[in-house]
Amino acid sequence: MKKIMTTTAGNPISDNQNSLTAGERGPVLLQDYQLIQKLAHQNRERIPERVVHAKGSGAFGELEITEDISKYTKAKVLQKGEKTKLLLRFSTVAGEKGAADAERDVRGFALKFYTREGNWDLVGNNTPVFFVRDAYKFPDFIHTQKRDPQTNLRSNTAMWDFWSLSPESLHQVTILMSDRGLPKSYRNVNGYGSHTYSLINSRNERFWVKFHFKTLQGIETITNKEAAQIVGQDRESNQRDLFENIEKGNFPKWSFEIQIMSEEQAKACNFNPFDLTKVWPHADYPMIKVGTMTLNENPQNYFAQVEQASFSPSNIVPGIGFSPDKMLQARIFSYPDAQRYRVGTHYEMLPVNRPIVEVNTYNLDGSMNFQVKEPTKAFYEPNSFDGAVEDSSFLEPDLEVGDIAKRYNHRDGNDDFSQPRALFLLMSDNQKEQLFSNIKDAMDGVPRNIVDRQIALFEQIHSDYASGVKKALGI
Ligand code: NDP
Ligand code: HEM
Repeated sequence: MKKIMTTTAGNPISDNQNSLTAGERGPVLLQDYQLIQKLAHQNRERIPERVVHAKGSGAFGELEITEDISKYTKAKVLQKGEKTKLLLRFSTVAGEKGAADAERDVRGFALKFYTREGNWDLVGNNTPVFFVRDAYKFPDFIHTQKRDPQTNLRSNTAMWDFWSLSPESLHQVTILMSDRGLPKSYRNVNGYGSHTYSLINSRNERFWVKFHFKTLQGIETITNKEAAQIVGQDRESNQRDLFENIEKGNFPKWSFEIQIMSEEQAKACNFNPFDLTKVWPHADYPMIKVGTMTLNENPQNYFAQVEQASFSPSNIVPGIGFSPDKMLQARIFSYPDAQRYRVGTHYEMLPVNRPIVEVNTYNLDGSMNFQVKEPTKAFYEPNSFDGAVEDSSFLEPDLEVGDIAKRYNHRDGNDDFSQPRALFLLMSDNQKEQLFSNIKDAMDGVPRNIVDRQIALFEQIHSDYASGVKKALGI
């Protein structure tokens, strides 16, 4: 028997083709609440898009830990043999929700692990570093990536003006303009937690850590020219590639690896290991294999499971912790703030965001709180009615930060050139040519004084870098 269509209140609908009118030629009666409900719901089908990373694709999968790293962490999700369900959302940063996929941009690599100790979110990118090192500059940077307020056009001038005045961006700009700035598909990118985090073991000892996910499909990239052809035919090339491969059973995989730095090593390190514009050189901090991540399940409903998915670096589990990276602290505030606005106060109750463990908070009420809890007198804390209590066994080891509070100049004496130089020097001739040509394309229309200021920065990385860009630009 066919299901009977109903209103949202469950009342049967007799006619879904013809509105209720006074006479055959209209007008419509106000009491046609079925028509009104349908139009009103349509007006509410969109939620605000993410302020950055608006265009994305997601899939579910599994993280399997194959190695014993218990000497570094007690986190259950990271113990050998553990298998944890996850959601991975890939994205581009600058474009709006309808932007084409095959664009030169950083790719977001946002992970939510549904662990036995609550959700662990690792909200990273396909690059190990970032454009700015102080969150104070993040909104300015993003303004240069979005549209000019008057022309409503993207502005190469704004981008290079900001970058040429912010030498800390050089490392990430070099990656963005390299071949890796335009991946062939989401399956062909690495993922990096980027920030330094901490791992804490059962003896409550802290180690600093970097998280890496290396694609087992191999890094594959496309040129600007190839991308233009793809976008002309298919604006959703990466969404299609990911969805169709998973649908076919061709599940993409990543090798999960970490780098470890002890607290003593961090104190002796010749660069700030909490600076998001720096990597930890592999030779000094070798990669340690931890496990494998596989994507094996497409979402059933894009809106419910990808658009409403809310990732935040603030979601952390015992055995994994933060670090003094000042960008990380800002992100810990910013993401849940964005999600309370973008999705709603109780965004964490939605199935895609809900942890698999019992949630015991004393938060109450608020719009769309649909949880009907067992009646209890323990609706505040402390209480005498057997309510949930804190557990000091989860306390992290002390972290020494005592120092003078002031607005430290983060550009003073900071070496913004050595690491981009190391990257430039490991590029093949062909990769260098792509780098120069991509910079030339991206500098289209930029005033000469800004171009010159940027070339002076490239010169400090390597004279071949500056001369290569100049030659490509014909100057
Ligand atoms: P290594 O030679 O040990 O590592 C070089 C790394 O660079 C590899 O991970 C390689 O990835 C990656 N790489 C190659 N081409 C590009 C590119 N166009 N864009 C981004 N990454 C690329 O050297 P070091 O560890 O001493 O690092 C040297 C430089 O390599 C760094 O300054 C940094 O720019 C870059 N890098 C370093 C990473 C790190 O965590 N140490 C991570 C990623 C980049 P793959 O193995 O997949 O080829
Ligand atoms: C998305 C803020 C730096 C990766 C977002 C969102 C905000 C934000 C508000 C939208 C969240 C939402 O609506 O759900 C910031 C701020 C930063 C910063 C304030 C700097 C202080 C970074 C860095 C990375 C990163 C350094 C990577 C290492 C991402 C990703 C997303 C995102 C991947 C998309 C998450 C998803 O798929 O839903 N960011 N961000 N951001 N950001 Fe950042």
